[in-house]
Amino acid sequence: MNILIIGSGGREHALAYCLEKSETCEKVFCVPGNPGISQIAECVDIDTTQHDKLIDFCKLQKINLVVIGPEQFLADGLSDQLRASGYAVFGPSKSAAQLETSKAFAKNFMQKYKIPTAKFAIFDKSQYKEAIDYLAHQDLPIVLKADGLAGGKGVVIATSQEEAMQVTKDYLDGALGSASEKIVIEEFMQGEEASVFAICDGENFITLAPAQDHKRIGEGNTGKNTGGMGAYAPANLVNSKVLEEVKSKIIEPTLRGIKEEKMPFIGCLYVGLMIKDDEAKVVEYNVRFGDPETQAVLSIFEGDFAKLLYSAAIGNLDKNAVKSISNKAACCVILASKGYPEKFEKGNKITGNLKEDEHTFVFHSGTKMYENNLVTSGGRVLGVTGINENLSLAIADAYKRVDEIEFEGKYFRKDIGKNQK
Ligand code: AMP
Ligand code: GLY
Repeated sequence: MNILIIGSGGREHALAYCLEKSETCEKVFCVPGNPGISQIAECVDIDTTQHDKLIDFCKLQKINLVVIGPEQFLADGLSDQLRASGYAVFGPSKSAAQLETSKAFAKNFMQKYKIPTAKFAIFDKSQYKEAIDYLAHQDLPIVLKADGLAGGKGVVIATSQEEAMQVTKDYLDGALGSASEKIVIEEFMQGEEASVFAICDGENFITLAPAQDHKRIGEGNTGKNTGGMGAYAPANLVNSKVLEEVKSKIIEPTLRGIKEEKMPFIGCLYVGLMIKDDEAKVVEYNVRFGDPETQAVLSIFEGDFAKLLYSAAIGNLDKNAVKSISNKAACCVILASKGYPEKFEKGNKITGNLKEDEHTFVFHSGTKMYENNLVTSGGRVLGVTGINENLSLAIADAYKRVDEIEFEGKYFRKDIGKNQK
């Protein structure tokens, strides 16, 4: 089959890598893609905001399956439009995407369907006084979340009443535009975080290897939140007991509930979990693959990934397309530009060994070609991934390769995967 991937980051490179080696895949296209993706797929420059042009492209290239990477396209209703034009799409409808695009929707949904999550209250612009009054009666720390998509900048964990009240005021005053017109105030959960991806066909699902992301910029999980500085899979924190509970108490009721709401979920349901004493609660839903978890999770996937996503997209999940999800282990270390997640330089030349070998794959995130050189073009530049029979070997493979790649301002965390249970 011919497959079109939408997106341009490390996650999309990992999707292309796994789809391209699938037996049932003939050709992969990616809009717009990146220099890494262009080595395994045909990258096409179409304005992704012009959905009509994407649909024309699907017709021209006889696309059998469209896989949507980033959430913004789902929020914009791209999957609905493609489906209405008759294409099989892996990615939920705009309405089902509310599980990610509105934290208030997600929290109300979890409450209605009794899915374990932190205690919460929701306030809008007109309820500033009520929000402040509510805060005065809560324990610290307390978590404040903007309702809408905020590019990873919408969550504050406040450690004092003053900070909590200030953030509440700023948010409701529109600090994040329409994203913070409504806020969720949430109990702080103790524990360790992990994520599980479920491939869903609207009713049935299969989970991939559990993963752990490292969201903070600094070692030992310190400093600013980022899009993710590295990930490994499988994450043993999600042991078989925890995984069974995640399936029966979180994923199953989520799929049942969202179907009952007449928004059946087709795509990757990402459940972000907080785990303590083998009990998991939902921190957040995402409605797409995570970045950089996907680089680790798909590096160890064995089977026909194209067949799996296509079967989900047409509402008939083929679990036999999966041979194994965690026969091996993978560790993805992000090479970032110094200064990220704040200001950073772009356009620095990347040199060294970026070639695939038996135990390493280098995924491109923020790279581009400039005058025949590969240069940095984003905060997160490369996802250097080690793949081996166990996690310690995979970590060693990743870091060995990290030392073989250079660019001005190269920054990475040295502890990816190292504190796992
Ligand atoms: P979110 O965008 O909802 O995933 O929040 C971003 C990050 O904030 C999460 O990955 C957690 O590290 C942290 N976080 C969010 N909600 C909570 C909570 N209720 N308790 C503790 N940490 C949280
Ligand atoms: N790695 C976190 C995310 O993709 O949202």
